[in-house]
Amino acid sequence: MDKIESLAKRRGFVFQSSEIYGGFGSCYDYGPLGVEFSNNIKKAWWKSMVQTRTDVEGIDGSIIMHPKVWHASGHVESFTDPLVDCKKCRKRFRADHLLENIGTRPDLDGRREPPHDVSSVTCPECGGGLTAPRNFNLLMKTYIGAVEDKTSEAYLRGETCQGIYVNFKNVLDATRQKIPFGIAQIGKAFRNEITPGNFIFRTREFEQMEMQYFVNPKKADKYFAYWREQRMGWYKNFGMRDNFLRWREHAENERAHYARVAWDIEFNSPFGGWKELAGVHNRGDWDLSRHEKFSGVDLNYRDSETNEKYHPYVVETSDGVGRAMLAFLINAYDEVKTRSGESNTKHDLEVVLRLHKDLAPVKIAVLPLSRKEKLIALAQSVWKKLSALYMTHYDDTGSIGKRYRRQDEIGTPYCLTIDFKSFDDGKVTVRDRDTMAQDRVAAADLQAYFREKFE
Ligand code: GAP
Repeated sequence: MDKIESLAKRRGFVFQSSEIYGGFGSCYDYGPLGVEFSNNIKKAWWKSMVQTRTDVEGIDGSIIMHPKVWHASGHVESFTDPLVDCKKCRKRFRADHLLENIGTRPDLDGRREPPHDVSSVTCPECGGGLTAPRNFNLLMKTYIGAVEDKTSEAYLRGETCQGIYVNFKNVLDATRQKIPFGIAQIGKAFRNEITPGNFIFRTREFEQMEMQYFVNPKKADKYFAYWREQRMGWYKNFGMRDNFLRWREHAENERAHYARVAWDIEFNSPFGGWKELAGVHNRGDWDLSRHEKFSGVDLNYRDSETNEKYHPYVVETSDGVGRAMLAFLINAYDEVKTRSGESNTKHDLEVVLRLHKDLAPVKIAVLPLSRKEKLIALAQSVWKKLSALYMTHYDDTGSIGKRYRRQDEIGTPYCLTIDFKSFDDGKVTVRDRDTMAQDRVAAADLQAYFREKFE
């Protein structure tokens, strides 16, 4: 994990937020490569979830919603983690995590009751006794307007899907969708986590990619199975290894307040083994019927063919962008014996980030083999053409071995070298990150060549 964190910082994937002030509790900034990488993950998700389907619509709702939304959703009442304090050193912990450490419970990722019995554990820091667990609400509060009192209280959204439920009727009226259909959204969510940590795995501000699929209650099980398959398939399509992912069903006592059935996709992390990456939940009619009750607006669906009227059940798929980034990085991290053609006795292992080409932050690097003016001019004109289509780096500093290494380390799938032979035959050399195969390609054909590669 140290290697991943160090690479992420050194190469500009992830920085600690407000670092010059000593950082700020579990908040992170994405650097030049991190923003490309996370955008690519979101693009890939949106493409598979919205653009290439006729039955899912996208929205982008606001982060701050009417406070009643969070009363109706049950979050004000039940969105809690069991918190314990050490009576000696005063440090705070999540009771379920302490129990998990001694193997008495699974990892309960939040929000369920009743609090657990922690009589079998002591403080992991100083061995002191612990207080009885009490529920700690994770919603982040803010105030809207000039007055800071109960009347101006609002919440930063704790999950993006609530913006989807409150727009269920709007989307239905504005489109020609019929059940079954889904609504998807990508956006920030906020939780006052008691024990954030493990780099970007658990943070207080994070991004979710959520899709709510509205179905006839009688068909919920069928669509639940369908969406489970889709979500696991998505991660594998983008290169996640089979033995790196697994499914885990939530036991009844660990399910969130809204869930009838809940399954997690877990990844095999270097910080304590299997951890939740994403979830698929059957939320029944919990959300629509609660919003109907609290808003007074009828949120039933009327089937125009059968005339049946009902609250649709919701099959939810929920993925975290930061967790996906972390899992893709860990999955792609590889160290190989030196292959860049440079003698490098000190560092005979080189890092290759084997990211899927659609997710890699930089797609192509243009590397002129000498800094002669004529060669640089040709390389820059090639870069100019390609950079209009793909995120393309231009690098003419250092030995070619070092430049290959720099690109392998950030997962660039193709490096393109230009030398004096290019003037004779009009061709450049394209080197594949994974196979190391080298193609001589006519400079005039590069766009068509890469179109095929990135299709
Ligand atoms: N709408 C359902 C929901 O929010 P969840 O299991 O609480 O379900 C879904 O969260 C996903 O959001 C998780 O699988 C994870 O990828 C991401 N996530 C949740 N809490 C997070 C946190 N504190 N930091 C980073 N990602 C988080």
